[in-house]
Amino acid sequence: MCGIVAVTGFKNALPLLINGLEKLEYRGYDSAGIAIINSESDNITCNKAEGKLKNLKSLLNKNNIPGTIGIGHTRWATHGKPEVKNAHPHCDSSGTVAVVQNGIIENYQDLKNKLEKEGVVFNSDTDTEVIPHLIQRELNTLGKLNLENNGSTLLVAVRNVITDLEGSYALAVLWAGAPNSLVVARRQAPLIIGLGEGEFMCASDTPAIANFTNIILPMEDEEIALLTPLGVEIYGANNERQYRNPISLNISEQIIDKMNFKHYMLKEIYDQPETAKNWLEKYLIKNSKNGQLEIDFPFDTNFFESIERIEIIACGTSKHAAMVGSFLLEQFAGIPTNVFYASEFRYSPPPLLPNILTIGVTQSGETADTIAAINMEITRRSLVKDENFKPNLIAITNRSDSSIGRQISNIIDIGAGIEIGVAATKTFYAQLLSFYGLAIQFAQIKGTQSKEEISKLILELFKLPPLLEDLIEKHNQSAEKLAHDFFNIKDVVFLGRGINYPIALEGALKLKEISYIHAAGYPAGEMKHGPIALLDKKVPVISIASPGEVFDKVISNAQEAKARDSYLIGIAPKCNGTEIFDYLMTIPESNELISPLLNIIPLQLLSYHIAAHRGLDVDQPRNLAKSVTVE
Ligand code: M6R
Repeated sequence: MCGIVAVTGFKNALPLLINGLEKLEYRGYDSAGIAIINSESDNITCNKAEGKLKNLKSLLNKNNIPGTIGIGHTRWATHGKPEVKNAHPHCDSSGTVAVVQNGIIENYQDLKNKLEKEGVVFNSDTDTEVIPHLIQRELNTLGKLNLENNGSTLLVAVRNVITDLEGSYALAVLWAGAPNSLVVARRQAPLIIGLGEGEFMCASDTPAIANFTNIILPMEDEEIALLTPLGVEIYGANNERQYRNPISLNISEQIIDKMNFKHYMLKEIYDQPETAKNWLEKYLIKNSKNGQLEIDFPFDTNFFESIERIEIIACGTSKHAAMVGSFLLEQFAGIPTNVFYASEFRYSPPPLLPNILTIGVTQSGETADTIAAINMEITRRSLVKDENFKPNLIAITNRSDSSIGRQISNIIDIGAGIEIGVAATKTFYAQLLSFYGLAIQFAQIKGTQSKEEISKLILELFKLPPLLEDLIEKHNQSAEKLAHDFFNIKDVVFLGRGINYPIALEGALKLKEISYIHAAGYPAGEMKHGPIALLDKKVPVISIASPGEVFDKVISNAQEAKARDSYLIGIAPKCNGTEIFDYLMTIPESNELISPLLNIIPLQLLSYHIAAHRGLDVDQPRNLAKSVTVE
């Protein structure tokens, strides 16, 4: 989390920094700050404000700070409260070195203790502040060595300092002693360099750069770079200069309009029929020989043949998509599948088994835990000298240009377009579709389903876009009405079973993250083993009841809740049994396997309207960030 941006060689650095931060605010909005080498005084001018970027903008109050070089930061607080003193950039005691950082410096306390013993006074509670002090100390030492080129001196100083840092970081450093030079470095946090003519930019993500250039150079792990108006020098961990070709960005993808929607989240919910259409057009093709529709992922089918088991690694909403995926891969395609929280997998991976496919799911492609867990899996499998243990990998992501995209070559690019709302909606949808695609492909290759069953499922997928349009329109109204009655509740219980249990979890996550109402999802059959004790007339129960294998069971579980006075909201088609619901959010009848793709819609809309009714910042909920790039 946190977004950093840095520019050099521009006529006027400030507007570029502000524009870059606007595009990075999804990464955190606890505070924002900017440091520029003021061309009138040659000193660093630093401005910071608590809260969102708009506060920094009003602090600057249209005053320009003349300067061609600067750094900026938008913060998601890790160490130290969201206060001005903890906002980045952080400076050394002389105010000549300024640093912005995204990550966590795990050994900062030891470094801080040592610096304090040397007499350094700290002004913040952050882990980052050790960095400018260490750089200044290093610069003093190097000054004594009398290095000539100031930019190179800064590069050496930063390199010496980062070798002492433990943890992950992406950082940008400004030094008044080298007024044209920026030094940037990364370890396990993203950083991308944008190239212009005599103008260079570096940022945590491409949208921050897209207004300036479409020519970029993503930095690799452990790299450090010197940016001056004369060009960019990149060095690897071994200090060797790195040379590689820049790549082009598809700029049109980066410009997102909210249209007439009040919030991006609502727009993104409405985008979902288009998301589904695009996904189907991209990954379903007609076989020219037999005319049948088939999944067309860009991998060699031999790849699938040897797979005996699947492990899926993900966090948050991506994990919920993975759980639906696991159900499909086991129940439809017949492949034993396990889903892991990435943060748990890292420290307690399952014993190694042969012929496993590892799937990393992350819309951002930057989630630190997911990236680290995948890396760990690649390493431990590579150490076994047996073909059957080799790492077989797939990434399901919305950002093929992200860290996971560089880590794994088999990518299912879900193609949902940039999602701005911190609460994932359309990316969840496209992740779900990708799992349907994988299950169909495995079933085809392994022969675990008949051609007819496979075609039936594919046809159901094809029917989705118009169904979704109607469903969204209808439930945008019903959810708004329900929100009126429920915006003040304190607790909500979501129930689902089988393939819809993860949808209950996702419904609960959506509600809590944007409305701050406590919500919990349970497998409906588990209610009586404890959670039922929570129920009374103040706790509404939202029950997903799709006709099929477990329909009657879910209805019985809902009855049990009703007997405890809970107000019952059903997510179900109008059919026998659903009359027990106090309010029914009607879903068209469908094959049970497809039902998650319909049931999620009213749940997203209900969360949205409850949060909007509470007057909350739906797109940027408190304490959250879109990309979780720290552990
Ligand atoms: O980018 P990722 O899919 O890896 O993100 C994982 C979670 O951080 C994310 O899904 C989070 O739970 C969202 N806030 C959900 O709306």
